Amino acid sequence: MELLKRLCEAPGIPGYEAKVRTIVEEDLEGYVDSIETDALGNVIAHRSGEGPVVVLAGHMDEIGFFVSHIEEKTGFLRINPVGGFDPINLVAQRVVVHTETGDLVGCIGRKAVHILTDEEKKKPLEVRDLFVDVGLPVEKVAATVRIGDSVTLRQDFVELGDLVSCKALDDRAGVYVGMEAIKRAKNPACDLYFVGTTQEEVGLRGAQVAGFATRPQIGIALDVTIAADTPSVEPKDRVTQLGKGVAIKVRDSASISHPALVRAMRRIAEENGIPYQMEILPRGGTDAGALQMAQEGAAVITLSIPTRYVHSVVEALHPDDLEATIQLLVAFIENADKIDLAG
Ligand code: CO
Ligand code: ZN
Repeated sequence: MELLKRLCEAPGIPGYEAKVRTIVEEDLEGYVDSIETDALGNVIAHRSGEGPVVVLAGHMDEIGFFVSHIEEKTGFLRINPVGGFDPINLVAQRVVVHTETGDLVGCIGRKAVHILTDEEKKKPLEVRDLFVDVGLPVEKVAATVRIGDSVTLRQDFVELGDLVSCKALDDRAGVYVGMEAIKRAKNPACDLYFVGTTQEEVGLRGAQVAGFATRPQIGIALDVTIAADTPSVEPKDRVTQLGKGVAIKVRDSASISHPALVRAMRRIAEENGIPYQMEILPRGGTDAGALQMAQEGAAVITLSIPTRYVHSVVEALHPDDLEATIQLLVAFIENADKIDLAG
């Protein structure tokens, strides 16, 4: 969990994943034959072997912002979102503004409820109306902060009962299980890659080029998925549930998992007593959507980690589901030469 904590607490909006990449590089050293970084910042770790080319991909970026404007008279910052936010999740949060000369802590403030008019209370929140307060006089802000500085949400990694909770579990949890799998696999029956991808949240951009560099025959995206196992959600709308195991994705809006891979994952999970659940996600996508269209095409699937409150700073998941995901990945990797994609 120490590695997951470090991954989650590191900042990295799309295009600015360097700090996460460093953790991946340092941790995987000695476990793989090579680690390279490409022009888009993808980190590509390779354990060469015989058998099909299998590429695991987890995205290193998290949703965040760029500073888009500095209020001339007051020094409050306006922000431009990178990734899909529900603005209600942003109000009253702490952020970090990453400037060239160091980090500034800030907060996203809003008029106190005491002075909100009835009309203001009813008006839907929009990110463009929000502002960041770094608590400094305007001259100091103007001298430190630049348009284009990245801004991340700030939240510590905590245990929440049986769960763990932090910002950016989307998708540091996927990065974590991919790293653990490539380290733990004893006898990979494949030519194995793990890619920490970039810019997933703005359109699977890193995975698209990583798919060309690695030429996967089998691509496995590792990402969180919705666990709406919370009050006021009907069972048919839950997607997945926490603590019920790794989610084997059938489809989302970016990819349809290869039926032979869906069957193989289910069979391997059953043979090894690994808890799993099936997942159909009506909206959203993963790096599998890009990997399947690299080169002449690849068979893809996503293994998902059920997560509550996705795209908020209180994202929460069950460590048992992480473990199930790692175990299924390792078992798959060690049997990859027996997968019949035509069958
Ligand atoms: Co996401
Ligand atoms: Zn994600």
